[in-house]
This record gives sequence, structure tokens and C-alpha cells, in this order.
Amino acid sequence: MDIARTPSNPAGNPEMADAAVEPVDPATIFRKNYTPPSWLVPEIRLDFDLGTELTKCVATLKVERNPAGDGDQTLHLCGDNLAVMSLKVDGADAEGWSMSGSNLLLPLTGTSHEVTIETHLHPATNSQLMGLYASSGMLCTQCEAEGFRRITFFPDRPDVLSKYTVRMEGDKETFPVLLSNGNLVETGEGEAGRHWALWDDPWPKPSYLFALVAGQLVANRDTFTTMNGRKVELAVWVREGDLERTDHAMRSLINSMKWDEETFGREYDLDQFNIVAVSDFNMGAMENKGLNIFNTRYVLADPETATDGDYDGVEGVVGHEYFHNWSGNRITCRDWFQLSLKEGFTVLRDQMFSADMGSEPVKRIEDVRVLRAAQFPEDSGPLAHPIRPDSYQEISNFYTATVYNKGAEVIRMMHTMAGPEAFRKGTDLYFERHDGEAATCEDFVKAMEDGAGLDLAQFRLWYEQAGTPKVTMRAEFDQSEGAVTLHFTQKVPATPGQPSKKAMPIPIKVALFDRDTKAHDGEKLLIVDKDKAEFTFKGFTRPPVISANRGFTAPIQLDAEQGDDDLVFLAANDDDAFARYEALQQLVTRELLGAIENGPDEKRRTAIADAMGAVLDDTQIDDLMRGELMMMPAVTFLLELAAPADPVALHDARERLKGYIGSRLRDRLIALHERASAIGYSLSAEARGARKVKTQALVLLSAADAKEAAARAEAQYRAADNMTDRQGALMVLAGIDCPARAELLEDFRKRFEGNALVTDKWFALQAGSLDPMVLDTVEALSNHADFTIKNPNRVRSLYMTMAVNQPAFHEESGRGYRMIADLVLKLDPLNAQTAARFIPALGRWRKIEPKRAAMMRAELERIAKAEGLSKDTREQVTKSLD
Ligand code: PHE
Ligand code: ZN
Repeated sequence: MDIARTPSNPAGNPEMADAAVEPVDPATIFRKNYTPPSWLVPEIRLDFDLGTELTKCVATLKVERNPAGDGDQTLHLCGDNLAVMSLKVDGADAEGWSMSGSNLLLPLTGTSHEVTIETHLHPATNSQLMGLYASSGMLCTQCEAEGFRRITFFPDRPDVLSKYTVRMEGDKETFPVLLSNGNLVETGEGEAGRHWALWDDPWPKPSYLFALVAGQLVANRDTFTTMNGRKVELAVWVREGDLERTDHAMRSLINSMKWDEETFGREYDLDQFNIVAVSDFNMGAMENKGLNIFNTRYVLADPETATDGDYDGVEGVVGHEYFHNWSGNRITCRDWFQLSLKEGFTVLRDQMFSADMGSEPVKRIEDVRVLRAAQFPEDSGPLAHPIRPDSYQEISNFYTATVYNKGAEVIRMMHTMAGPEAFRKGTDLYFERHDGEAATCEDFVKAMEDGAGLDLAQFRLWYEQAGTPKVTMRAEFDQSEGAVTLHFTQKVPATPGQPSKKAMPIPIKVALFDRDTKAHDGEKLLIVDKDKAEFTFKGFTRPPVISANRGFTAPIQLDAEQGDDDLVFLAANDDDAFARYEALQQLVTRELLGAIENGPDEKRRTAIADAMGAVLDDTQIDDLMRGELMMMPAVTFLLELAAPADPVALHDARERLKGYIGSRLRDRLIALHERASAIGYSLSAEARGARKVKTQALVLLSAADAKEAAARAEAQYRAADNMTDRQGALMVLAGIDCPARAELLEDFRKRFEGNALVTDKWFALQAGSLDPMVLDTVEALSNHADFTIKNPNRVRSLYMTMAVNQPAFHEESGRGYRMIADLVLKLDPLNAQTAARFIPALGRWRKIEPKRAAMMRAELERIAKAEGLSKDTREQVTKSLD
């Protein structure tokens, strides 16, 4: 029997399938409606006959009735753009099956059967980059969250765990390397130049962790011996010319494996671990069992082409994906509402890893900066959702800063409350209790309660409630008692679907400094768990200076009602690096918010420049920290506090303050630039710090004395022997109207012609520039020979960079909004996931002054009216307009 039909594809022509129109009103899926699967698939065998145009897949599923299921005799198999080419049950043609939408319904009679399905795939035309697709000649897969159903019909849900055996066969010249999950058990030669490989993964896994790669790849190989003596073959697979840029990824992998043994007691469990780099990828990377697939930008790094930030990105993402082997793969998610179970925990793990590999306080500051710039706006906007959402239409839209980064903060709070040793007991219990299972966030919390000895009854609200809590703190001093009382209030703001909130337990670390001795008597951990709470401390003869939310122990907006003097004191004296950074940020934030209302405050500006000057002179801190302290808060973060506001006015105020600081500290910035320029290239903390302050000095200088900054940036570019210096210099130059700008941008392009990741930088440098003509440039670049809408990295480097470039995106005429909407409409039919990621920028209209807000809404409405919009974009647009 050879059947090829799906209702949306009546002609049975698979080429038509990708043009299928999504239903107009996509169904909402609710967490509360979870039911266990009625059928399980303990084993699956996949046979691939590989081809770039046509790949044939024969899947043989051993299916068993789930005793814990509802007894439904019909096997429900998900499909997406698939046609059934052949369907057998226990070796005979299947009978009575039907299609329900794109899914396959197969009534069965017994309790266990073998189901064999043939499907035909078209990797070359798969522009969504989900399922099996072609990327510069090679074949690869992406299955999380729901891509496996684009390969074969299957109960494509994470609580169905199967043992996979995979046989791949194809032309030896086109696909010399054949990889899948688990261990390679056999290879062989076929006829007519073909060969095959058989892979076996002994660990049962959900379908989203399946992966296959076939193509012309070369490997950087090494080995790792685990704590119990298992020798693991490691390989980082890339295209031939990229091999020399893989050492850092390999080093990061080995460091990750060692770190997870030492820190969490987790050992690797296969004989092989493969990483493959692909240049067309929707996300950062994917943790497929034993076969991680990476966006090239998180694998490839060498001094010439990658910045220090890129090196950190590689280390963090390699760690992240490796850590998923336990937090994600060995213990996976019961359903996609539990996504933060694996992602929040794994982000925390990668943050801890990077902190241990580098500077802990600097890493903390960077992570908080990301949280504030990306997650806070999400949490206060139309797309706000709890870290464990209650409903979704398209799960791809929930791979968010909330699920990932706030999810990590929530687990970090448990770590803070328990302390490191008890926390480890909690994670040990979690891994022991749920190994091999598809678990829930509740399971994690329970293991933390039982293992770490925490009472998390009220804490569970952090999983249920969206919105960034607003906390105030006021200190009251009682001279006669020698007592200080800290009065706290908390309020969790209303978010879509959650009009009223309960008070949550908020752990806040504080220290009380004596003004004269500049010392404190130890940190205290306060738990604010009611709408109002107060804590009294005795033994003070004068009002102390309060250092609050040290280390950023809770993901909150804290308004510590402190005078400028106290902030200046903390910026100079706090012994907690984060708190010191925070005090300076607060001072700057206060100044900028005041400036857009009433113009600059002379006294405060002076205080800020003095504090910044002290930062430049301080010999106690290293340059990596100094570089952090020199940065201004992001406009998106300021908008959270000022909304609704004029983002361009905020941006301008920020530039003016930079200019003020730059002129006040001109000589010292120049001296810093000279000192740092004398330090040669290496990956040591000292040299990296030097590169960081070098560019930060130019950033401040450029706002004060563009000519001087341009000359120095040009010199820095010409002398550069590494990408950090080169990109930093060009970033500064791109914002200055000077002859060197065009010349050096062109030099940069030519110098790295053919290198895709550096070409991405070339686009981003221009789209992110402070040049007032930036939108003209972006438009011109969209027609550049090197621009392609088919590559997500390239699209993001041009358009995402523009969308976060505040004066560009919010250009008064509304042109920036229009360009993003045009892009979404063009990209949506090709790559819905990537297109939908541009909607939140427009969805932030409530934070923006009315004139611009109306234009942003109008663009959302224009998108909403388009026909055949993907489920991804439809959900984001509809919610953003509500
Ligand atoms: N699970 C991946 C990670 O966080 C992210 C991802 C999601 C990649 C969906 C691709 C598709 O490591
Ligand atoms: Zn992850």
C-alpha cells in the first residue's frame, strides 16, 4: 500500500505541504488539562535513506498500552507537513486509520503492536529549520519542541520515552560523516558508492532529543575520563576550514564535564559525545542526547574572529548543553509547561560554571544586566507569563527570558536560602529520585524541600505568578534605642490573566555600614514574605548606610529610598561588588529619569562623575570589574521605570550624561586607554580586562570629544591583532561621522570576506550604530549581496540589532517599526519561529509615549491582518494587541 494524503494536502504532493495554511484560530493548550499518554513507545527503530532533495524515513515503533493511561484504543500520532507513504501494523497493511488535521489516528485492538510508517522528507526546501533540513550541503535535525513530528508520525510529547536505534544510509561522497545519538555500533559499505551507519542509544529519551547529522565534516577530537574511569571520545564537528577555530569549544566541553562532576556529582553516561556546528539554526544550540547541535556562533572562536564576549558565549553554551545531559535528558520534562524545570535549572548551572571559570562578581553583573534588559520588559508587558506557564498556543514562543533567566533566578533563590551544601543535598535527591523520568517543576521543588530542608510552601508562588515584584525599603533610625528598622513593602503587579497577586517570599541580603568606619557587622538574609515586613537591628549610635539586595539575591525591582549621599557612599565603599555596581547604576538611573523631566541635576552629575573617576583610579578592582562599572544602564531597563516615555529622549539623556562624564574625566580616560593599549593579547583576565576598559573608555570619550575618540578608535583598529579590539573600535567609529568610518568598515568587510560569523558582525555594527542615518543603512544592507533572509543569524544581525537600537527603532517617523513589520511579514512564511521573535519589540508599545505607541500598534494590526500567518506569529501579535 502506498498512500500519500493529508487533508491539508489533498493532492498528495509533498512539495505542496509547506504551503499549508495554519488554522485561523489556533487552539490554546492548558496545563491543567494534562493527561498521561494512552500508548507508550518503549522502542523505536528509524531507517533513513538520505538525500538532500528527498530523504525516506521508515519508522518502526513498538507500542504498548499505558497501564496509567485512559484506555483509549486509538493510537494518536502527531504529524506536521507529513504524508503517510506506507503504514503497517504487525507487518500487515493498516486498516481503519484516518487523519485528524495533520495527525494520524490509528485504532488498535491489542495491548502491544509493531507499527511501521514510511514518510518522505524534503530537507532542501525545509526553510523552517525544524525537523530534517539541509544547511550548506549537510543534513541535520532540530526536534525540540515539536520538530520530530516533521520527520515521522509519533506521540511527539516529552513524557513518551523510547530507546532509539537509528540506521542511516546515503551517498558516501555527499555524506561521509553519519552521526546520531548514543553509540556507533556498526558501519558498512553499500552499493553504488553508498555507505551506512547504525547508532544505538541505550538511554530512553523523548522524541525532542533525537538527532541526526550527515555531511562533509571534520572533527577536533579529544577524550575525557570520567570520575569512575569511563573513557569518553569527544568530537567537535565542523566544516573543513573551521577546524582551527574549535579548540576553545573543546576546552569548554572538557571543563564542563569536570565541573559537573565536582560541583553536582554528575557523570557522563555514554562512550561518545559529539558536538556539531551548523550555520543555519533558529536558536543557540540543542542538547540532543550525545549529539549536541550548535549554532556555529557558539562553537567557533579564535582571537582573529571572535571577541572576548564570543569566547564567553561559547563556554557558557557548551556548558549549558552539556549540563542538560542530567538536567534535561536523564530527567526530562513531563510536558512543555515544565520547560523551566530543565531550562531554568540548566541556566543556573551554566551561570555557576562560567562564574567558576572566570570572575564571579563580573558574571553576576552580566547576568543581572541581561535579566533587566530582556526579562523585566517581558514580565511587565503583554506577553508576561509565569516561569511555569498555564497555557500556550505555540510552545516555541515560550523559550523566553522568563522561562530561562527568571527560571534560573528562582532556583538561585533556593540556593541562597538553603546555602550551598543543603542546596547540593536537594539536587542530589532530585537526580536520584527522578532519574529516567519525565518530571515536573513540582517534583523539583519537593526534592528541594526534602533534600535541602527548606519549606517552600509559599515559595511555589514564584512558579505561578508572573510579574516582577516591586519592593520598597525605608530605613528608620531610633536614636534612644540605638535601633534601625527596615520597613519593606512588596507588590507583585497585575499581568495578563492574573489581575491580583499574593505576597511571595523574597530573600534579600543586606549589610548595614557605619558611615565613619566604613565597615559592617556581617550580611543578613531577610525574607520579606508579606505585603509589609519590618526588621529591627540594634546597637547603632548613628544611622547606618544600608546596602540592600547584595548579590541581587531576588529578581525584583527594589526601590531603597536612599539619598544620593548614601548611594555615593556605597558606590565608593561597598565590599559586595554587585552592590557597588548597583549603587552607581541607581545614581545614574535617578539622574537620567530626572533629566528627561527637569534637565540634569548638577550636584548629582558631579557626584556621578566623581564616583566614576574613583572607579578609574581604584587599584583594588581589576579591569574586568572596572569595565562593568563604566557602563550605563540600558534604555530598555530605564523604560521600565519611566514608562510611558519617549525612548529617544531617554537615549539622548544617556548620551549627554556619557558626554558629561567623558569631558570631566577626559584625561583619565585617555590615560586608561593608553595603559590598557600597552597590554598584549592573551586570554588572561588581565588582558581581557584591558580590552574591556579600552573600548569602554572610547565609548565615554566619544560622547564628549568625537574627534579624539575617532582618532584613538582608528588607531586601535589599525593596531588590532584580535577581534575584541577591532570590533570595539569599529563600534565606536560607526557612531561618529568621520572619514575613517566608511574606510574601516570596508576594510573589515574585505578582510573577513567569506567568514559568515564576522560578516554577521559587519551587518550588526552598522545596524547598531549611533549614526542618525542608520535606517537608510539598514535598508541598503537588506539589498546587499551578503544579506539573505534564509539565514537566521544574518537576519538577526541586521534586524534584531536594529530593533534593539533605541534611536533607530523608535525613529520619530515610525519607519523603524514599519521595517520590522515588513520583515515579519516576509519572514513568517519561511521561518515562523524566527519571525515571531520580532513581535515583542513592537508589543512594548504601552511603555512608549502615545504618538509612537499608536504607530507601533498600527504595525501590529497590519501584521495581524495578513493572511495565513503562522501560529507562532499569530499568538504573539494577538496577545500584543490585547
Ligand atoms: N533546548 C535548547 C537549549 O536551551 C534551546 C532550543 C530550543 C534549541 C528549541 C532549539 C529549539 O539549550
Ligand atoms: Zn537549555
